[in-house]
Amino acid sequence: MCGIVGYIGPKQAQNILLEGLRKLEYRGYDSAGLAVYQNGKLDVQKTKGPLKALEQRLSHHPLSGELGIGHTRWATHGKPSDENSHPHVDQSQEFSVVHNGIIENYIELKEKLQAKGYPFTSETDTEVIAHLLADLWDGDLVSTVRKAVKQMEGAYALAIASVKEPDKLVAVRLASPLIVGVGEGENFIASDIPAILEHTRNVYVLEDGEMAVITRDGVSLFTTDGAPVNREQMRVTWDAVTAEKAGYDHFMLKEIFEQPKAIRDTLAGRIKDGVVDLAQDISFTEEDLKGIDKIHFVACGTAYHAGLMGKSVVEKLVRIPVEVDVASEYRYRDPIITPSTLVVVVSQSGETADTLAALREAKKAGAKVLGITNVVGSSVSREADQVLMTWAGPEIAVASTKAYTSQLIAIYLFSLHLARVRGSLDAAELKAYTTALLNLPEQAQTILEEADAIRPFAEGIAKHDNLFFIGRGLDYAVVMEGSLKLKEISYIHSEAYAAGELKHGTLALIEDDIPVIALATQKAVFEKMVSNIIEVKARGAHVLGIGLQGDTELGKSVDETLTIPETLPLLTPVLAVIPLQLLSYYASVARGLNVDKPRNLAKSVTVE
Ligand code: F6R
Repeated sequence: MCGIVGYIGPKQAQNILLEGLRKLEYRGYDSAGLAVYQNGKLDVQKTKGPLKALEQRLSHHPLSGELGIGHTRWATHGKPSDENSHPHVDQSQEFSVVHNGIIENYIELKEKLQAKGYPFTSETDTEVIAHLLADLWDGDLVSTVRKAVKQMEGAYALAIASVKEPDKLVAVRLASPLIVGVGEGENFIASDIPAILEHTRNVYVLEDGEMAVITRDGVSLFTTDGAPVNREQMRVTWDAVTAEKAGYDHFMLKEIFEQPKAIRDTLAGRIKDGVVDLAQDISFTEEDLKGIDKIHFVACGTAYHAGLMGKSVVEKLVRIPVEVDVASEYRYRDPIITPSTLVVVVSQSGETADTLAALREAKKAGAKVLGITNVVGSSVSREADQVLMTWAGPEIAVASTKAYTSQLIAIYLFSLHLARVRGSLDAAELKAYTTALLNLPEQAQTILEEADAIRPFAEGIAKHDNLFFIGRGLDYAVVMEGSLKLKEISYIHSEAYAAGELKHGTLALIEDDIPVIALATQKAVFEKMVSNIIEVKARGAHVLGIGLQGDTELGKSVDETLTIPETLPLLTPVLAVIPLQLLSYYASVARGLNVDKPRNLAKSVTVE
């Protein structure tokens, strides 16, 4: 996820672009840059670091001109660096491009262009677009862009400026958001509405496969095949703060709703012909992978809960023994680590001090370390032997949601990769898993469409100070995450219990009217789970049961029921956690709390 902007009009572009980027910094903040056209030249200034670093550079080398494009980056291909920052230009600086998304076939395109002599200066997928435009130039910018787009696979929102036709900007969208702001004698491009709200409230929202040609005086919309598009302008009525959250009340809700996309992006390019292929991500050899005799998942908080899931998944699919540790405990308990141990550290930020300390300890002891992280260029991504990125985009809310589901996806992908290499699953089994994985974004979407159904229950629990979550098997790992989420943003004390364990002590705490959230999605333990629900009901608990669509049994033993779509049992946690995230969110809202910034907590914990 990155932020892009474009401006054409009578004013100096630099400050308008910078102001726009400032509003988009929530989309990424590891590097930034501008390209501005003047006197037959595109001048580019870009730098690693937050927008402030670019502003500082521009204070010494200002860009003058009335047409330009800008970018704030959240690294995907290539670490945060000056060279990898956008805009990217071709060799003669005639075409400049800013990009949000991933060009999946960029290696193939890059090799073709390199063979023709185009020199590359960055590690990004985006640079291929600038060279491709130069290579395909046919005397007409719009037709050249169209030809380039035909060769590109993946997801992209692009803004393109060229010295060849300095009276226009071209914008293209496929599976990454893009809008065009319509002003008077000036027009704008942006990833998101807040970037342009100061200048205009009239926008066109581009759809997939569409492009816009933008001059000072007009905007024309086409499909990338050249057919004109007639679209009503939208009038934005939100205030600037709401707009930054895309109309959602909080970043957390926005991020919960972004999960179908985060899952899709994390899967993108990693499944080919029904088989998981991580060759482009990790370069452990077959021998390395076959030699692993145990795996340790090490992480903190929500990422630790992803690791708990990882244990069940790897043990089931690969039959390697797995241990899961809270990072702050791992290094002090003298774990048994050998060169054939694979230590998987999971961290959204890639900067959590406890997790990093564990990573270093594991390396010192000779283990191979795989990092699963959401931030390219983070310490985990730099220090782990191999890295499997989650492509959730920046997570702003302190409570982790889309990063967690993306971590689960990364763990499934790695487990299936391992299962293929080690032969622990046959082709039909591998195919069944990849098919089910690819269905998850749509299934997650259907849960989100019913989000409101959970609100009344959340409002009910908001009046309580204590409650319980129960589940068995994988559902137990999921309710641990649900309980953490509720505690951190609603300040309601909750315990997550393995449902079968309640009767060994905790049942004493069940009294009249106490809420119990019972997750019952695992068919193999369903009957046992129902017995445990009956145990708490008999002691007066008010039970919300969350089960699978089509289940007609659960409703008979609980007070209220919610359902989620069915997938393979091992994949169910990705869907099951969504109602629990929504439950915490609505409970926090009902209590009037600061959802995105709960007390005493920070997004990235860089102290031990
Ligand atoms: C909870 C939450 C935290 C983090 C934990 C690890 O919602 O966000 O528990 O999961 O602090 O952070 P990362 O994943 O950045 O290492």
